Amino acid sequence: MTAEIWQTDMNGVYLHTGSFGRKMRDDQFQGFGRSITDQNGHFSFRTIIPVEYPGRTPHIHLKLLNESENVLTTQLYIQGHPLNKEDFLFKQMTKAEQKINSMKLIKNNAALAATSFEALS
Ligand SMILES: [Fe+2]
Repeated sequence: MTAEIWQTDMNGVYLHTGSFGRKMRDDQFQGFGRSITDQNGHFSFRTIIPVEYPGRTPHIHLKLLNESENVLTTQLYIQGHPLNKEDFLFKQMTKAEQKINSMKLIKNNAALAATSFEALS
């Protein structure tokens, strides 16, 4: 299975041509990535901690594909982030959905690691 992510740069600007704040975009930030899952469905990316942008709590977009078939499109949130409770999409989910769509940031030497889908493991 293929996992694809996309997110804003540290200024809250997407690579997309229609994104607001294009003049502030960090052109050193790729903004998207693709990975192949392992035998257990695990995948990983090295990226920045997502930031908020107007009207949205920090999140990373995620799409899972089986060959070219879309299996899942969702967003991953930072567990316990104070803006989650104000986010119009986050608020629409049940507590269980919020939990499985949230990443827990864990200190890992000089960086942070994130885990997700706790309810499924
Ligand atoms: Fe977004």
